[in-house]
Amino acid sequence: MSGLGPVMWPPAPMRTERLVLRESEARDRAAFTELFVSPEVHTRLGGPRPREELERAMPEVPGRRPGLFVVELDGATTGTVTLERRDAGRPGHIRPEGGEAGLGRMFLPKAWGRGYAAEACAAVLGWSAGVLPGGPVVLCTRTANDRSVRLAAKPGFTEVERFEEWGAEQWFGARSPVAPSG
Ligand SMILES: CC(C)(COP(=O)(O)OP(=O)(O)OC[C@H]1O[C@@H](n2cnc3c(N)ncnc32)[C@H](O)[C@@H]1OP(=O)(O)O)[C@@H](O)C(=O)NCCC(=O)NCCS
Repeated sequence: MSGLGPVMWPPAPMRTERLVLRESEARDRAAFTELFVSPEVHTRLGGPRPREELERAMPEVPGRRPGLFVVELDGATTGTVTLERRDAGRPGHIRPEGGEAGLGRMFLPKAWGRGYAAEACAAVLGWSAGVLPGGPVVLCTRTANDRSVRLAAKPGFTEVERFEEWGAEQWFGARSPVAPSG
């Protein structure tokens, strides 16, 4: 995945029923570390990273880039939702030149199973429909990642194809943007 391209960034923090989505800040460092060292989070993402290595390499403000939203619940960092361009050289595309906006989701296990990820994804997809009009959003996840595949279906991602990458079968789906009403 690579940079999102020219968008107004950061947007004002977005509020949903239970969450706040915003640009990352230095206070998110501890939660980023937990996300990247958690074996549970990385079961189907290629394995966790060693804590010391991660703490050494992590910038003072982690993950600050256009398209990366930190998700906050009651003031605590709970996960991230990202939109990034899909590299043309990877398998899984819906247009020949690649570069589709791809959705990623990563939440701390203690927050799983309450609908927070679905709520946050809906907000990011709503934002993207305004700033990246026209193109479908894509999503790639391991087929075996049932939580992730179920979560993809909620805002309407449908399967385009499956292929092998990183030593596992990948589920690749796309979602057409919903035209804004009015
Ligand atoms: C992928 C991931 C974000 C999904 O998390 P999740 O907790 O399953 O998703 P949600 O937060 O939307 O919660 C959905 C569940 O909450 C339940 N739920 C409980 N209360 C709810 C509420 N008030 N509203 C909506 N859903 C609710 C839903 O029924 C659903 O359960 P189900 O999956 O058994 O049907 C999470 O597993 C994760 O971070 N995994 C590690 C990283 C990863 O693999 N990312 C994907 C690669 S892109």
